[in-house]
Amino acid sequence: KSIQDQALIIFGASGDLTYRKLIPAIFDLHKQNSLPKNFAVLGVARSQFTDDTFRDKMKDGIKQFALAKDALDEEIEQFCQKLHYLSINTDDGTEYSKLKARLEALDKEESTAGNYIFYLSTPPSLYPLIPKFLAEQGLNQENGNFRRIIIEKPFGIDLKSAVELNVSLQESYDEDQIYRIDHYLGKETVQNMLVTRFANGIYEPLWNRNYISHVEITAAESIGVENRGGYYDHSGALRDMVQNHLLQLLALVAMEPPMSIDSVSIRNEKLKVFQALRPMSNDDLFKNVIRGQYTAANVKGKYAKGYREEKDVDADSRTETYVAMKLFIDNWRWGGVPFYIRTGKRLPTRVSEVVIHFKPAPQKLFPESADFSNDENQLVIRIQPDEGLLLKTKMKVPGSGYQVKNVNMDFHYSQLQDTYLPEAYERLLLDCMVGDSTLYIRGDALEATWKFVQPLLDFWEKNPDAPLHGYPSGSWGPNCADELIEGKNLTWRYPCKNLSDDGI
Ligand code: BG6
Repeated sequence: KSIQDQALIIFGASGDLTYRKLIPAIFDLHKQNSLPKNFAVLGVARSQFTDDTFRDKMKDGIKQFALAKDALDEEIEQFCQKLHYLSINTDDGTEYSKLKARLEALDKEESTAGNYIFYLSTPPSLYPLIPKFLAEQGLNQENGNFRRIIIEKPFGIDLKSAVELNVSLQESYDEDQIYRIDHYLGKETVQNMLVTRFANGIYEPLWNRNYISHVEITAAESIGVENRGGYYDHSGALRDMVQNHLLQLLALVAMEPPMSIDSVSIRNEKLKVFQALRPMSNDDLFKNVIRGQYTAANVKGKYAKGYREEKDVDADSRTETYVAMKLFIDNWRWGGVPFYIRTGKRLPTRVSEVVIHFKPAPQKLFPESADFSNDENQLVIRIQPDEGLLLKTKMKVPGSGYQVKNVNMDFHYSQLQDTYLPEAYERLLLDCMVGDSTLYIRGDALEATWKFVQPLLDFWEKNPDAPLHGYPSGSWGPNCADELIEGKNLTWRYPCKNLSDDGI
């Protein structure tokens, strides 16, 4: 798609996201020659920066976090001339006339043509306010130019607040002007899921209840809550990872083929998956969901704090840092196929992957041998790190008889020489700049995902004593999570069994 001259206005520009992710990603877009000819960034926040002090800070961020490590100082310097700054009280509507005047001036100075993207990288309490104040200045109206708004998660803290947020956003902006970001959708391998499924003729015929026994989706992190205890203790893993990133992955794995590769068709199909999620019964809430919280342990010879000792975390906190659950998608393709999803902090390694487990061959012709594993065929889609695709298949061990062994057909993106893997924010920002919302969350899908997790939130709130399993930092979470997966000798896939393994 063609890209028009434009300005990107970042609210919350003095924060970490701007410094670590957004400006470095924009610099990388600049390095890839992907930015429009005329382009400017206006950072907006309460902190008192001048254009120059803001640029100095961003230069530092670019040097540390941009992918382009070979950039020369002069080049960074030159790029930073596109960055500007305005200090206003963003929660005071009367201050927005200053913003409007600044944008009009910027349009003249930088020829940005009155096309604006407003990026809300602010505390969520400002989400309903900023769009309203922008609209009061007419900054929502598209008269031959575009006005888009990007919002970071959290989009609400439950179904009710998510609906309210949608209503308030849609009072000022049309749904097609609203871009709700989920950075998982910006990951190259997440997008590759569509290509793996729909560009190959061999997978799709097998991609259903007849050939697939179950599906696993894992997003494991080795870090703890770091310095985000204040936010996390009110959020927990269900809100932080499951409602958004994991359910988005699930939708891409489970959706029907779209009519075409455009935003409406793809997002329609994803919505249908969310709508088909089987609501959790009371029994499921007890049996099919495991929550855990990490406890102190020695990890790789170093003391790792327990969650309750973390900064800004309640000493009696019952917030989950781990969730595993079994769920079903009630439609023709997936009837009866369990999906197992899990995520946690302070697990042995950082890995996100989807594992498609195929059913066994109908007849066991070959004798089991010492080498023979019970694992059936698996397709592992590795999202990060070491992005790639792994097919586990069986082959004959050379020699007499028919000993069978599992082997890996393994593709790593790193094998593609000179292939540039963009950062998620880079891809997503560029998509918004060209007006492609495919990889952004639509309002109806957002509400559908909250609708699915809401009974669980209610259940935990009403039953604070419902089991919360402690698990030692550096372990794979509560042992009982293995019991969720039904079947002889079946467990989760452990990409690295213990801390000394490298994974896969
Ligand atoms: C964020 C969560 O959305 O995703 C964090 O708020 C989490 O808690 C992060 O660490 C994980 O993202 P990634 O890209 O590192 O897998």
